[in-house]
Amino acid sequence: MPQIKLLNIVGARPQIIKASAISRAIRKYFSKDIAEILVHTGQHYDNEMSGVFFDELEIHKPHYNLGVGSAKHGRQTSMMITGIEEVLLKEKPDCVLLYGDTNSTLAGALAASKLHFPVIHIEAGLRSFNKSMPEELNRIMSDHSSTLLFAPTNAAFKNLMSEGFRPENSPPYTIDNPKIYLTGDIMYDNTLFFAGLAEKKKASFLEQLSLIRDNYILVTIHRDSNTDDVARLEEILVTLKALAEQKDITLVMPLHPRTIISLKTKLVSLYNELWKCRYIKIIPPVSFLEMILLEKNCRMIVTDSGGVQKESHFFRKPCIVLRKETEWIELVNNGTSKLVDADPERIEEEFIKLMGSHSALEYPGFYGDGKTAEFILKEILLMFEKE
Ligand code: UD1
Ligand code: UDP
Repeated sequence: MPQIKLLNIVGARPQIIKASAISRAIRKYFSKDIAEILVHTGQHYDNEMSGVFFDELEIHKPHYNLGVGSAKHGRQTSMMITGIEEVLLKEKPDCVLLYGDTNSTLAGALAASKLHFPVIHIEAGLRSFNKSMPEELNRIMSDHSSTLLFAPTNAAFKNLMSEGFRPENSPPYTIDNPKIYLTGDIMYDNTLFFAGLAEKKKASFLEQLSLIRDNYILVTIHRDSNTDDVARLEEILVTLKALAEQKDITLVMPLHPRTIISLKTKLVSLYNELWKCRYIKIIPPVSFLEMILLEKNCRMIVTDSGGVQKESHFFRKPCIVLRKETEWIELVNNGTSKLVDADPERIEEEFIKLMGSHSALEYPGFYGDGKTAEFILKEILLMFEKE
């Protein structure tokens, strides 16, 4: 079989991390079969949101960086579509690989499907059933533009079936006859691969931050519903600060630039108070290896991030989720993730409960065997063999 040309599209921080799992599996097992072209839309561009991951996770530099940057949804997505279309027409790949639910995912799905390039969607089928989330619209539209859909969980697979995708479809697969798979999660592959490396390469990271193992809580907040609604952001942070003081425990917060911007522009006095509080450590976004260390050694996690919710499970840490609903519903059903929205009473209740003993909590293997990237690539190759 001739080598296939796979166009890999990334843009936001978690997609760069996800792409490293695929790139690593291509290098290890399929370098003769698959030629990878990496396109970075430039959705994230600060070194700590983008460059650091290419260096640390040994991903080759993007063949194309569209340099789109930040803008409102329509403008940002349309600039991405224009740029991706040009690359597609020049490169004529055999297929286009997309991750997750960002504007970069949607732009890739629209540009590729309209030019009839088969779209492959990793993290297909996740749903929050809340269409006021930009990501929910991106997910639905990307899934319905795809030819191969890799669902990471049972719930995601069932969501696809209830939207009319049929597991019994047989080849040749097309956008009108798509194939859905239940796989694991490539982020679990990454955690298994990088956890040991993080310990070796970042041995003194916790010490540098004066953090003591099991004696701090990791907090991340970046979801637009929390950062752009100032009242919500204020309620969350005021509640967490009071709990840290009451329970005598440090909160370490590697904050996304959009959260810092909201704090600096709309909540200046709270921002100053947080900086003065000895229990709060606001730090810039950290590298993936640093994040792994923070997750692995913390007492618990408070987050609105999709990726960090799952990583709490990989590292067997209870998790408070600052959202009304989640796509990773198995974690909530398992009792180890608690949905609290931005409700001070619920945050307090779960915080206090989870600060206590967690020896009764269990963390079953929901996310595969750590070889999901390999499985996905094999299935992609199979699609071309059967053609
Ligand atoms: C995006 C995704 C979200 C994902 C998140 C991962 C969409 C709609 N949202 O949200 O699903 O969870 O990435 O982190 O695609 N900014 C910087 N520097 C950067 C990047 C962003 O300062 O390198 C600031 C800008 O002010 C920008 C804001 O962050 O306006 C938001 O960035 P954007 O990429 O639009 O959305 P995210 O919130 O990062
Ligand atoms: N992450 C990181 N540094 C940080 C915050 C997050 O490396 O300062 C990693 C995190 O471990 C996870 C991914 O980024 O793998 C999650 O990205 P994010 O929370 O930005 O987006 P989401 O998963 O919600 O789309």
